[in-house]
Amino acid sequence: MEKEMNSKVEEIIGKIERMSLLQDQGCTSEVHQVVTEEGSYVLKSSYEGKYREWLRNEAVVLEKLNTNTEIPTPSYYGYFERKNSSHLIMSFEKGITLTTALREAEKQEQLSLIKGFGQFLQRLHETTVTGFHNNHWLAEQLKKAESYLKTGHADGDLKLLQKITLDRPSSVQQTMIHGDCTTDNVMVINGKVSMFIDVAGMRIGDPRYDESLAIRKWMNHQEFIEAFYEGYRRYKVTKEEFEYFNEGLYEFF
Ligand SMILES: Nc1ncnc2c1ncn2[C@@H]1O[C@H](COP(=O)(O)OP(=O)(O)OP(=O)(O)O)[C@@H](O)[C@H]1O
Ligand SMILES: [Mg+2]
Repeated sequence: MEKEMNSKVEEIIGKIERMSLLQDQGCTSEVHQVVTEEGSYVLKSSYEGKYREWLRNEAVVLEKLNTNTEIPTPSYYGYFERKNSSHLIMSFEKGITLTTALREAEKQEQLSLIKGFGQFLQRLHETTVTGFHNNHWLAEQLKKAESYLKTGHADGDLKLLQKITLDRPSSVQQTMIHGDCTTDNVMVINGKVSMFIDVAGMRIGDPRYDESLAIRKWMNHQEFIEAFYEGYRRYKVTKEEFEYFNEGLYEFF
């Protein structure tokens, strides 16, 4: 890492002892573990417009949640932008993603992890937090979808966007949501689903979006779906709602 970048990081977390790329990389950023004399941190960096904007949101959310004890997320240490990149520094958490944990587990263990995921998500959906405001989540997501489509940053096409704009599901009570609640974005620590990561989209929104992304990989795996709903007892998305969120809206993000 170049000198100027190093010193920016060291201003925040102290002298760097070592640094390495994490084994699991996301698609939208580069993540390093950075060890300093003070502790162990994650440096998450993005280099492209849309993803830099997400990273800035993630920093804002993490900072707001630093004093919150009900929604477990990594601790926030700092955020800075350079000409062509943006960088977030948070605590390094000793855990693995739920995706990895499920890959490595036996059947019974998988079921119990998935039930735990359901419980963990339910807790989020039942939490009230100050500092987050309820402002027309779905309308805003559709506006963002349109702008991502226009700039060639979406998988979905115009026809799909028109469909999900016209066919909106009837509204439900909005709650705190994760906003990208796949098994890649929750961490298992000491065998339990116990932390949200990648929280750029965390805000007040439609909980059916989280629920749909949470179960998306298990459509042909009834036992896993059942395990999830043993933990998540608020509401079950209908097939139509699931399709709206998973095969509709999510195609633009
Ligand atoms: N605070 C943390 N502590 C330890 N590991 C982390 C931490 N944050 C992220 N990771 C690891 O880095 C990987 C990528 O992180 P993250 O999901 O935030 O990145 P991303 O590029 O935004 O992913 P996506 O492509 O899902 O948007 C995670 O899967 C996880 O393994
Ligand atoms: Mg991720």
